Amino acid sequence: MKRQILTTEDGSHTLYVPEMDEHYHSIHGARQESMHVFIEAGLNAHPGKELTIFEVGFGTGLNAFLTALESKHQQRKITYHTIEKFPLREEEWKSLNPEKDTDNEDSQLFTHLHNCQWEKINHIDDKFQLQKIEGDLTNFNFQALPPFDLVYFDAFAPDKQPQLWSPKIFAAIFNHMANDGILVTYSAKGTVRRIMQSAGFQMERIPGPPGKREMLRGRKP
Ligand SMILES: C[S@@+](CC[C@H](N)C(=O)[O-])C[C@H]1O[C@@H](n2cnc3c(N)ncnc32)[C@H](O)[C@@H]1O
Repeated sequence: MKRQILTTEDGSHTLYVPEMDEHYHSIHGARQESMHVFIEAGLNAHPGKELTIFEVGFGTGLNAFLTALESKHQQRKITYHTIEKFPLREEEWKSLNPEKDTDNEDSQLFTHLHNCQWEKINHIDDKFQLQKIEGDLTNFNFQALPPFDLVYFDAFAPDKQPQLWSPKIFAAIFNHMANDGILVTYSAKGTVRRIMQSAGFQMERIPGPPGKREMLRGRKP
């Protein structure tokens, strides 16, 4: 897959896929969007002190990186499982800046998240564990993983990759979530809301990140 690096409006990088005409993040601010959608509306909305997180699309590692930073700041123990069909090449992730003013320790963390082995559970520090799985969400067997407290659904947009936003996938994720689990996604589409509702989620439309009016959050009752 061909990808180009772009700088978004908050100074953080994202990737652009010309063949799909699709970005990995909002061009209004990649870091800002990840913070809003996944950290503030997801991680900070869950009361658990110890969490199992599942992410759709490891990609640039930005969500994993911000979550690892938060686990340290908030002293919360997090096990983070993430699936990725098209891992970045080393020269690609090495050219990314995860945030504008990344200090040295943070940039070592970013490197560590990318350098650690795929498939195994990596102990990144005493609070954060990471399992990167190279695989395809459309035929993934969730049974190998523990129940999810929190899901970051960060696939490419529903009109670009409709097969990932299917009733079957949302039902499989719902069935694999713990009670009171939360799923967050940047999409605010009515079709996505209805598919998630049919899977069993209690749905909310909440304010979106800069440049986007709304986003969706679902809870497993
Ligand atoms: C919108 S990007 C977001 C990536 C990441 N969360 C980030 O912050 O960079 C969507 C990601 O889903 C991955 N992806 C696409 N199709 C997939 C599939 N069938 N299974 C798993 N991952 C997939 C893409 O390669 C890409 O990394």
